[in-house]
Amino acid sequence: MPNIESNSKRKVVLLTGASRGLGLSILKVLLQDSGFHVVATARRESLSRFQDLSIGESESLWIRPLDVLNKIERDILLQEIEEKLGGVDILINNAGYMLRAVVEHVGEVERFKQMDTNFRAPMALIRGVLPRMREKRFGRIINISSVGGMMAMPTMSVYSASKFALEGASEALWYEVRPWNIRVTLVQPGFINSDSYMNVKLTRESERAQRDKNSPYYNHYHSMVPFINQMMKLSPASPEKIANIVLKTIRKKRPPLRVAGTIDAHIFNFLRKALPRKLYHLILYYSLPKVLRWGEE
Ligand SMILES: NC(=O)c1ccc[n+]([C@@H]2O[C@H](COP(=O)([O-])OP(=O)(O)OC[C@H]3O[C@@H](n4cnc5c(N)ncnc54)[C@H](OP(=O)(O)O)[C@@H]3O)[C@@H](O)[C@H]2O)c1
Repeated sequence: MPNIESNSKRKVVLLTGASRGLGLSILKVLLQDSGFHVVATARRESLSRFQDLSIGESESLWIRPLDVLNKIERDILLQEIEEKLGGVDILINNAGYMLRAVVEHVGEVERFKQMDTNFRAPMALIRGVLPRMREKRFGRIINISSVGGMMAMPTMSVYSASKFALEGASEALWYEVRPWNIRVTLVQPGFINSDSYMNVKLTRESERAQRDKNSPYYNHYHSMVPFINQMMKLSPASPEKIANIVLKTIRKKRPPLRVAGTIDAHIFNFLRKALPRKLYHLILYYSLPKVLRWGEE
């Protein structure tokens, strides 16, 4: 018998990647709202961050280990939520990372891990929560996508591929689960003003190429990296602002399928709709930093 008495009116939120960045900001805004029982999750090695921030468990907060790539951890957690809280009402798939590498520098294992984290794990969690949501005829699924899920940038191919995949599956899901009042939303942040750019991962080959002036892709990296870092530093969008957008979306009776998270997301969205595609790509190509020097010996 589920032990949901103390939570009978609170919506149960499962949040992934809550240890830092956007996930941590989402956690903080959720905790200010008494309408939620939050299950904040992070990888085991990152759980101590909650202690460091004096965020402890309470009647409305559980903290649990969850590496989204770990099926056993996913299953155990969903089972516990099912038994003690009566299932997840709101799933926020936030955990993710960005791989920086040109296509030629991504090995199979690296490609799979990026796809597994940003696409396959959110899908697995969605599969885990849907049966109960359908039963309750209520559910909210928030998938943190990216501008990278609507457009691809050089040196970010697999990241974009993972977010495009997330977008495609979420769009299909939006139709599929509407009959049960389950709403799916893709929140699409662009550049966020945070230190998350320091967490960008390199592949074995992209790491080497960035150090090697003779690499044919040396200029690609040395143009794009400072450009992206600069855009993040100049961005007016803080993780807190995006967290509030997430909260607003959850509270909506009929949240939309896509929510742009930042001003650049709105601009790129508009340009993609307004310009002929050929022109759009040409404008973007010639806007890339030092692009005419790319490929130079
Ligand atoms: N920052 C941006 O400009 C930006 C823009 C668009 C979209 N996004 C998206 O926003 C989301 C959050 O990113 P962020 O900017 O907050 O980055 P971040 O500061 O690097 O945080 C990423 C979070 O994901 C967690 N994570 C990574 N792999 C995981 C795994 N296997 N299992 C569980 N947790 C895992 C990290 O946990 P650990 O602490 O254990 O590493 C961390 O909590 C991501 O989906 C990202 O793609 C970010």
